[in-house]
Amino acid sequence: MTKIISVINNKGGTGKTTTVLNLGAALQRRRKKVLLIDLDSQGNLTSSFAIEVPKVSIGEVLVDGVPVQEAVQKVDKISLIPSRADLLDFETRLANEPGREFMLREILEPLQQSYDYILIDCPPSLGILSINSLVAADQFLVPMQAENFAFIGLDRILQVTDKVRKRMNNQLELAGILFVKLNPRTKFCQAVVKSITDDVRVGKKMFDTYIRQDIALMESAAFHKTVFDYAPKSHGSEDYAHLAKEILKANE
Ligand SMILES: Nc1ncnc2c1ncn2[C@@H]1O[C@H](COP(=O)(O)OP(=O)(O)OP(=O)(O)O)[C@@H](O)[C@H]1O
Ligand SMILES: [Mg+2]
Repeated sequence: MTKIISVINNKGGTGKTTTVLNLGAALQRRRKKVLLIDLDSQGNLTSSFAIEVPKVSIGEVLVDGVPVQEAVQKVDKISLIPSRADLLDFETRLANEPGREFMLREILEPLQQSYDYILIDCPPSLGILSINSLVAADQFLVPMQAENFAFIGLDRILQVTDKVRKRMNNQLELAGILFVKLNPRTKFCQAVVKSITDDVRVGKKMFDTYIRQDIALMESAAFHKTVFDYAPKSHGSEDYAHLAKEILKANE
């Protein structure tokens, strides 16, 4: 069965794209068939691959009815549905579609048999594209930095995901909250991690894995590589490999 995981946080720069790219690569290295979807008009996930500006992007598939298979690109062993900057225009048009929250779910149906994991990189908002990802997904994963006010952002995400679960997708589960860019030795990080772990709603849903701060994760995307190809012995490689293992175990 395909698992569709939405990687979501309405705050910017919390490691969503880095997580989709490197968790996807880690799952692929464990022989899973993986599709990544760039649902962000910033196109950072698409730019992490050495491909040209795509002729068919997620926008045409969502709004113009172009068959989804036409948008899938295979880069090394990972499949990608890319995005372009004009996804913003498609997003505006999507707002007028009847059943607009269900468009992504509908277009992914023909791909269900082809992949073990579909990971969706959301934009930094809880707008219509992110809602589409939650309606299409089995699970959502929240990458988060250990910083002041992280808790408030999490509250908002949990409110929205509760509504989506109630109204549009009763399967939707929290895969887990993932601390990223963590410096586990600082007292401040330890205090934030503890405060979130103590929250009864999420206590059991924290990943055991956390992603340490590691410049190799930043550099690798700039060089159009996954961290496994760029720096196989880095903390980033180790941590994302560990996360993949934890996710596979949870979905056994
Ligand atoms: N563990 C890490 N250690 C160091 N740098 C990291 C780490 N994870 C991500 N980064 C860097 O932090 C920046 C933001 O990460 P990323 O682009 O993955 O976040 P995002 O949530 O997708 O951002 P946006 O909301 O803009 O889409 C990038 O420059 C990325 O390379
Ligand atoms: Mg991003």
